[in-house]
Amino acid sequence: MTTSSQWTALQVMQDAPVIPVIVLNEVAHAVPMARALVAGGVRMLEVTLRTPQALACIEAIARAVPQAVVGAGTVRSKADVQAASMAGAKFAVSPGYTNAVGQACRDAGLALLPGVATGSEIMMAAEAGFTELKFFPAMQAGGPAMLKAWSGPFFDVKFCPTGGVTLQNAPDFLALPNVVCVGGSWIVPADAMVRGEWDKIMQLAKDTQALRK
Ligand code: 3PG
Repeated sequence: MTTSSQWTALQVMQDAPVIPVIVLNEVAHAVPMARALVAGGVRMLEVTLRTPQALACIEAIARAVPQAVVGAGTVRSKADVQAASMAGAKFAVSPGYTNAVGQACRDAGLALLPGVATGSEIMMAAEAGFTELKFFPAMQAGGPAMLKAWSGPFFDVKFCPTGGVTLQNAPDFLALPNVVCVGGSWIVPADAMVRGEWDKIMQLAKDTQALRK
């Protein structure tokens, strides 16, 4: 069955300057972390499917933090899309693009930000109707200069660069007209999570508001 998504990829990108890339090892961390990010003005939350607890964390946030819009990151297969959707994810982010993942997101009614690092990958994703893309890994694959070069031939494509992005270099990306937001893990440091430093995470989220375009 095809359902329509509540959120479009563009809306997911436009909500805040930064989409946090979150790695959760403990279900108990999920809700306080999500509340801290929301309190800091960041509500689009990408929980990566990299740990055994990730789906349970998505479920917990979807249930207990209605102000957050939880998505699944590191989505690599149709099965990942289905599991994320069942857990309550509202959008998906993938490190690369395949037609199987694209179709599964359409079927599940999930907005998708597919990852690309080359012109051919952009063309494949765009051919399937995806024109809001994650540039991954952004710093390693060419940084702002690469996005500037792409703005000519891919004038109608928008990007969320992710990978090696920091509070310091984010302005270089956000200054580009084809960049809507950036992604990054720096606002959810693993050590702050382990120590339960939710105020610190809230402050890191607040600090990103200065990046607003
Ligand atoms: C990832 O998928 O790990 C993201 O690209 C995050 O990268 P970062 O840790 O460099 O922000």
